[in-house]
Amino acid sequence: MYLKQKPYNKIGFVDSGLGGLTVFKKVKKLMSDKEYIYFADSANVPYGSKTRDQMLMISENIVRFFNEQQIDLLVVACNTLTSIALDYMKSIANFDIIGVVEYGVKSAIKTTSNKKVGVIATKATVDNGLYKKLLEQKGVEVCQSACFDFVSFVEEDCKDKDKIVEKVEEYLKPIVDFGADTIILGCTHYPILIEYLKQYTGENIKFVDPADSLSEDVYEICGSYQNKCDTKYFVTKNPSDFKINGSKIIGEPIEKVTEME
Ligand code: DGL
Repeated sequence: MYLKQKPYNKIGFVDSGLGGLTVFKKVKKLMSDKEYIYFADSANVPYGSKTRDQMLMISENIVRFFNEQQIDLLVVACNTLTSIALDYMKSIANFDIIGVVEYGVKSAIKTTSNKKVGVIATKATVDNGLYKKLLEQKGVEVCQSACFDFVSFVEEDCKDKDKIVEKVEEYLKPIVDFGADTIILGCTHYPILIEYLKQYTGENIKFVDPADSLSEDVYEICGSYQNKCDTKYFVTKNPSDFKINGSKIIGEPIEKVTEME
């Protein structure tokens, strides 16, 4: 299944912005001694409102960037990009690639008791329907909800709290009414809103973050440590916002961010 020989020492992460840091943080906690490259495509955020053709073009640029960086493994820390472009990216990459969606599906199947699962995600992920398809293949009933404003709430550092509370209710109500006992956080920005989400649903619904099982798998794939710890951050727009807001998410200062053309 994997092209490379262990150990994998240079690992890339990609997302449209800050969301992928919720995945990166979990991987880095398990494996601190690796070389990481985090790429935030902030000039193109939000991916969730892009067409399939736009996403394929974007994915091509991402793979070109990581081919130049000569990484061993790319974690597509974005559900939208994974849903739409993972297979295409695999076909043009010189490195191994994993995406978040399969991990969300696996964890949700383990978590649900009543076989009713909610998926909250971007519009593009919901329209693509990969989560729905994979869950239904496992005999799970699915209710999806596209949460239009969640990504901008996170990118704007959750400033408008009342608006977040209002929108959480609007987007999660159909899933609660449907009777799901499990909700997949189907966008890597959403774990940052988890307290708002739990406040609305109460204790009866469990949330699944695909990053939990993904990080364990990355640890398995990557093998023994390299003893060199280094992280380089690249963005396509607004490096200073990324520094400030990204540091809060990752829980450590982001010192240097390189802005790409
Ligand atoms: N964080 C990404 C995801 O997991 C994309 C968010 C966006 O740019 O719309 O889907």
